[in-house]
Formats: sequence, C-alpha cells, structure tokens
Amino acid sequence: MCGIVGYIGNQDAKEILLKGLEKLEYRGYDSAGIALKNKSSVQVFKEKGRIADLRGVVDVTVAANTGIGHTRWATHGVPNHENAHPHQSTSGRLTLVHNGVIENYAILKRDYLAGVAFNSDTDTEVIVQLIEKFVNEGQDVEAAFISTLKLLKGSYALALLDNQNDDTIFVAKNKSPLLIGVGDDFNVVASDAMAMIQVTDQYVELMDKEVVIVTKENITIKNLEGLEMTRSPYTAELDASDIEKGTYPHYMLKEIDEQPAVMRKIIQAYQNEEGKLTIDYNIAEAVSEADRVYIVACGTSYHAGLIGQQFIEKMAKIPVEVHVASEFVYNMPLLSEKPLFIFISQSGETADSRAVLVAIKELGHKALTITNVPGSTLSREADYTLLLHAGPEIAVASTKAYTAQIAVLAILANVTAKFRNQPVEFDLVKELGIIGTAMEALCDSKEEFEAIAREYLSVTRNAFFIGRSLDYYVGLEGSLKLKEISYIQAEGFAGGELKHGTIALIEDGTPIIALATQESVNLSIRGNVKEVVARGANPCIISMKGLEEAEDRFVIPAVHELLTPLVSVIPLQLIAYYAALHRECDVDKPRNLAKSVTVE
Ligand code: F6R
Repeated sequence: MCGIVGYIGNQDAKEILLKGLEKLEYRGYDSAGIALKNKSSVQVFKEKGRIADLRGVVDVTVAANTGIGHTRWATHGVPNHENAHPHQSTSGRLTLVHNGVIENYAILKRDYLAGVAFNSDTDTEVIVQLIEKFVNEGQDVEAAFISTLKLLKGSYALALLDNQNDDTIFVAKNKSPLLIGVGDDFNVVASDAMAMIQVTDQYVELMDKEVVIVTKENITIKNLEGLEMTRSPYTAELDASDIEKGTYPHYMLKEIDEQPAVMRKIIQAYQNEEGKLTIDYNIAEAVSEADRVYIVACGTSYHAGLIGQQFIEKMAKIPVEVHVASEFVYNMPLLSEKPLFIFISQSGETADSRAVLVAIKELGHKALTITNVPGSTLSREADYTLLLHAGPEIAVASTKAYTAQIAVLAILANVTAKFRNQPVEFDLVKELGIIGTAMEALCDSKEEFEAIAREYLSVTRNAFFIGRSLDYYVGLEGSLKLKEISYIQAEGFAGGELKHGTIALIEDGTPIIALATQESVNLSIRGNVKEVVARGANPCIISMKGLEEAEDRFVIPAVHELLTPLVSVIPLQLIAYYAALHRECDVDKPRNLAKSVTVE
C-alpha cells in the first residue's frame, strides 16, 4: 500500500505531485506529504488525513521544479504527522518517500544507527538515516543509497532527494510497484501509470533491485552491482476519462453501472473472428493438463474464485481447490502431482497472493494470473495472464472487477471444457449477452435498492446474508461489501448451516438478506428463511424470475442458473452502497482500508 510520486522538469512540481497523489489515494489515505526542492533547499509539507488535508498546509507560494510525494496506509507507526512521509535525515540533507515494509528495520537500527535520534516510528526513517550515515562516512549519495539498499530486507519503492544535488531524484524498487514516466523535458516517478497519465503516457517498467538516477533529461537504470540496463518505454493505454468520476457522486456507483459494458468488452476481447470464445492455446492446454487447479486469492477476488471453482469443475471436469492466499502461504496443502495455480487479483499487486506465487514457482509449478492490470507484478511473474478488461477500478470496494473475474473464469472453464472434449450444453456468448441486459435492468432499479437499504439497514448493528450453492458464495461477497463500506457487522452463511450454531444470533428484527436464484435448492433456502422468521428475523428475499414467490422483495431477471452470481451480486452491491450512504460513510474510501494491498 501507500503511493509515491516524483517530478523533475521545468514546470511547477507542486500541482503535478498533488494531482498525482489524488489519483493514488486509493493506495492509502491515512496521511500524505510532499517535498519540494528548489536549488539547495527542500521544503516538506505533510499532514494526517487525505490529500485534501495536505492541500490545506502546502504553501502555495513555494516554487519548485523538482519534488516527491507520498500517500500513506499506515504499517509501522500510527497515522499522525510525525509518521507521515516524506522523512528526512538528521541533517535535513536527504528526503525520502517509501512504499513497502522493511522487515529488518529494527535490526538495522540497532546495528548501524545507535545514538541517532529518530523523529518517527516508521521503518522508512531507518532507510534515510542509513543513507546519511554512509554519506557521512565519505560515500557519494548514489553509492550510499546502493549500500543501504543492499542491507534492506523486505519491499520498497523509494524516491530520494538530496538537497546538495540540484537535479536528480534517486529511485529504487523491490517487490513494490514503481514506474518511471518519460516526458520531453521532464521525467516522473509513480506507483502506477494512472497517477501521471495527465503528463505522459510513456512509461519504463522497473525490475526488483534496480536503482534509477532520474534527471529531467535522462533516466539511468542500474542494478545493485552498478551494471547499466537499457529499457524502452511502453505506451500506457489508459484513457484519462476512465479515471474521472464524471457526473457520479462516487466511483463505486459509476463502477457498478459500468458492469454491463464490461461484460460486452470481455465478450469482445475473448471472441475470435468466427464469434467463438477463445483464449491463448497455451493457457487452455496448461489448465487442461492439470490434475487439480488451485485458485489462490484474497477478499472479493477469493469470492470470485469460489464461483470459478464451480465453473471449472462443472464445465471442464477438473477438480479445484480455492484458497485464501494469506493462509495458503504458511500452511500449504499437500499438492497434487500436476497442479496448475490460478491467481485472481484485480490489482495484480496483492502481496499475500504474490507470496504464494513466489513459493509455488520455487516448487516448479505453473501459474496463471487473472488480473485487471496488464504488466502488474502477479501478471509479470506468472507463466500466463488473462485480463479482465474492466477498466481502472478506483473505489476501494471492488464491484466491476468481481463480475469481470467471474465472467473471465466462465470463459476459461468453457474453453478448457471444449479443449478436453467435455460437452458444454449452453452458448456462453449468448448467455453473457443476456447477462449484460439483465445487469442493465438491475442498474436501472436503484430506487428499489435504496429503499431496501433504508428499510432494513438504516439503524441495525448487524445483518446476515444467506443462500445455498452459488447464492451462498454471492452472500459472502454481499456481506463483505456491506461491512467494508457501511461498517455494519455483516456475515454470509450457508442456509443449511444456520441451525448448526449461527441461528443463535437471530433476534427480533435482525435483517436477513436471502438469495434464491438456484432452482435445485429453492425449497431448502425458503425453508431456512422460515426458520429465521420464526425467530424474529426481518427477511428480504431476492429471487430470480421463474422461482419467485409472493413474499419476495425483489426478483432479478432470469439468466442461466450457473451464471446467476453475475447478476445477483448487483442488488447486494447497490444495497451496500446505499446503506453506506445513508450512514454518511465515505463510500469510496472506507476507514482503515486501501485498494492495493501490497503488504503481507
Ligand atoms: C473488497 C476488496 C478486497 C480485494 C482484495 C484483493 O471490496 O476489494 O477484498 O478483493 O484486497 O485484492 P486484489 O484483487 O487486487 O488482489
């Protein structure tokens, strides 16, 4: 987490940095800061809170053509002014921003920096103090930077200013994402291309353990042994308007509404000239040859994985296990003879998932990443990638990436089934088309979901989602959406499990959102609803056309039974959105969270 930016050129760095940080706020919003450099003076402005709070303390009269900036998601040290980046060395000569976690910071502090007075509780300050120590011992700043990097264990994306060096930003990366943006008479540094797309669409990717000397005319990339590398920039295919809210009050609502269009984009992206669904032959072959597929992911992506398991098992007839990445890495199950790993990650940067990827690559296994971000770490490091084509997802709560993940998993399962000569009895292209239309109808029914949120969730302290089969998995996602943005304690339960303990939680008026979209379990889930109603619950049944009953609160349009999660989640996303809105929560930036979770 955390986002960093840097600018070196002829324009006013201040505004470019602040705008860049606003685009990176999804990576953390506990505190923010910038350092502005003008000849040999560096001025640091930082503030607890958001970029808007930082704007309030930046001296607008300071003119500078070079600077670095940071938006923080706190790991070491509480979110306060002292722990906000940039951090400066004791003499004030060196100024640093950092994204990542230095695992051995306490050891480095003890072994190298005894007697140094620290101004913060962060791991980052150890880095800048170490560089200064090596400078004081006679190394130039570049050498001192490299000497320090050689001692660091953990992840970092770093940008460093030296106030005795007029025209350089020193940059380094290991495990945390970082790009250099290239311009005509300027260069920029950014955690992702989105942050600086307004000033350039040309980016150079950095590899782990590389150092870059950035001036306004040049970028020089070296490894830690000083060997220079040449690397051409690529064009970031991002439309600046993709990252604007437009007339929407929140990114989350915009992204919910984008789901029908994303479905169409996915169909287009995975269709060949004959209109048939297709994926890279090597991917279809790798999945087909696996004796077991292991899906690894976190949060919402994990919930998409649970649906993907059903698709792959039911269509391609390959056994699948789904694992939470942070558990898998420390408690690896006994693997099959010929496993294939699928990593699902919107950002492609999630550290927990990456840790598993590294571990299974060391064991010699093959991996496929399903991600929204081409060139992301998980995409680069896996053998194969399938893209989501969902466009940038800015709201912290994932919506369109979730449905895109499910659609891409359906395509993967469908193509693999054909590859394995397994009969597929439905036309997925046609069914996804129907889903796009059903999604539109749901997005047009916002008042209904606003009313449900008002009626069921305005004053409650908890809410439960129940379902069976695929509806259970969608309920898990619905409950995550609700708790993360409205702070209502929400849980998803398998309908049949209630009587084994959780039914004890039901009190008079407890809201129960029940999904009933699966014909095979329709009667059973309705029985479960009766059980909770008998104990005082306030049920809100969302069913599917063809299965509806008079008591249902909302009926979603009929779609193929295996693909219902693509539509049944939309009411839950919208209910969560309106519940958060009614409670005056910050929908796009819920407390304590960040969009891209780059720490384990
Ligand atoms: C919840 C949410 C998170 C992410 C999780 C994994 O709305 O967005 O649970 O799904 O942090 O992130 P990615 O998919 O980027 O690996």
